[in-house]
Amino acid sequence: MTEFDNVFKTGYRTGLCGVIIRDYSGKEVVLCGWVSKRRDHGKLIFIDLRDFSGIVQIVFDPSFNMESYEIAKEIRSEYVIQTRGIVKERTSDTINKDIRTGEIEVLASELKILSKSKTPPFLLENREEIDELTRLKYRNIDLRTVEMQRNLRLKSSVMNVTRNYLTSNGFVEIETPILAKSTPEGARDFLVPSRLNPNKFYALPQSPQLFKQILMFSGFDRIFQIARCFRDEDLRADRQPEFTQIDLEMTFVKQEDVMGLIEGLISEIFIKIIGSEINLPFEKLTWLEAMSLYGSDKPDLRFDLKINDISEIFKSSEVKILKDTINNGGVVKCIKVENAGMFSRKDLDDIVSMAKSAGAGGLLWIKVDENCELQSPVSKFLSENEKNNLIRVLSLKVNDLILIVSDKFTTSCSVLGIIRNHLAVKLGLINKDEYKFLWIYDFPLFEFDEKENRYKSVHHAFTMPDENNLEYLKSDPLKVNSLSYDIVLNGTEIGGGSIRINNLELQEQIFKILKVDLERAKDNFGFFLSAMEYGTPPHGGIALGLDRLVMLLGKLKSIREVIAFPKTQSAIDMMTETPSNVDENQLKELYIKLVKFEE
Ligand code: AMO
Repeated sequence: MTEFDNVFKTGYRTGLCGVIIRDYSGKEVVLCGWVSKRRDHGKLIFIDLRDFSGIVQIVFDPSFNMESYEIAKEIRSEYVIQTRGIVKERTSDTINKDIRTGEIEVLASELKILSKSKTPPFLLENREEIDELTRLKYRNIDLRTVEMQRNLRLKSSVMNVTRNYLTSNGFVEIETPILAKSTPEGARDFLVPSRLNPNKFYALPQSPQLFKQILMFSGFDRIFQIARCFRDEDLRADRQPEFTQIDLEMTFVKQEDVMGLIEGLISEIFIKIIGSEINLPFEKLTWLEAMSLYGSDKPDLRFDLKINDISEIFKSSEVKILKDTINNGGVVKCIKVENAGMFSRKDLDDIVSMAKSAGAGGLLWIKVDENCELQSPVSKFLSENEKNNLIRVLSLKVNDLILIVSDKFTTSCSVLGIIRNHLAVKLGLINKDEYKFLWIYDFPLFEFDEKENRYKSVHHAFTMPDENNLEYLKSDPLKVNSLSYDIVLNGTEIGGGSIRINNLELQEQIFKILKVDLERAKDNFGFFLSAMEYGTPPHGGIALGLDRLVMLLGKLKSIREVIAFPKTQSAIDMMTETPSNVDENQLKELYIKLVKFEE
């Protein structure tokens, strides 16, 4: 902090509170800040004065300065004051080792109240105990806490390192519209009615995707943006309706080029901000490997617990459900937990319920007892052969537990993926100090949406299919993989990107498969398709979720901890009480009529 001390010298103060150490002894300082605590000891009054840099103790002694002592009597928590005084070393018995300024105090010769404060709704030191909705309502106070100051400064540093890194790698920072065009094929848009164009709407951008691609068509070669994005989705701990992406696009690149650039950026962030090096290159798994081995396209690799395929053992099983699943093209998969003696019947019942609510028909458990016998609700249906094969293939030992889900490939994997995460917490397998990055690539280009009875893009409609399986585009689109990649940190997807289609015919073919009819595609993406007609270079890019990245760097539980004014789970800003009603006249100007809302 000291290197900045001079920067903070203003007409009000000589510098910051939290940087005053013994070297300042005997000097006169003028300090400003908020009153953190006031202790009236009768003969002396002590004030802990706080600014963002820390706390310093100010002493008001009537024998030194009566006037400031009298004013200090009136002072309460969170008053903003200005005080002048002499820095004194504390006696050895009054040194406070907990704060940086604990070896000194400032003997006040002047005191001015700059602004009074009502009694604050909560004490800054008790943040952890205060319910989050209260903190969000009084966010102005919450943002004063050490935690929020640290989190938002961390985010600022990440943005700063990012800007420097990208500009020194030839990127240009270019803004794109916030009042943008509504396009289907993504999350739900936030719409903005246009007054000058009645009955027409802008949409807030879900990402600057199409604009950044067009900037590549226009020859900018490399662009980036710290982009605000808006998506009307259901919210959870790592999702906000408005969030920020580090969004970039590059011309004449292969996916390895984009990955290498991002690894360089993350490594720079670690060295400059966390103060440690990370291992490069990051591990890479294909989507299929990640799903088969870890049951997730964003696996947490801080622990092992791999998923095994044991379909082979049950091909002609007496356990009907297992045999039928395999005959119908499904799989039998399991996780083995070693030394699982502590799992009670209730724990196992809970895991079964968890599997059911995650979409499986059920979950089968088998325990190895002290006689090396397999105990399970279905033990009597398992043949000796199956039991022996299980013991051999999984190298089972006394007290091992296996949890089996037999279903369609994706259901079995994803259900076991959820259970894998549950087991890691229960067994204490996660090292909270570790940062485990990995790339997932070779995603399928499409998934089939049963509800809408049509294919949907796994990433987005502009993602380049892998030329090695293009032949299936017409006959079996689910067999086509894409040149897309996600970056995962400790089980959270922190970014995603792809090489883009730069061929108009192929782009139109993709829209056809997505059943976006060409007329509609022209309506929604016409500008983009016609831009593609004038020389479209090969290009690709990625967007990192800045908020998620900072949340994980700061080891924080919620994305709301890194956003100054976030929304609640029901998308409400508690401080400004937004969304809110608007004036009848405003609606009239926009040709909007409200209909009565019934729940
Ligand atoms: P995608 O939709 O995967 O890709 O988003 C990129 C990253 O943004 C973060 N993210 C979010 N963070 C907080 N709240 C949300 N609601 C939210 N939604 C997404 C995630 C995610 O990995 N246009 C493409 C990028 C590209 O292809 O270049 C895109 O937006 O960390």
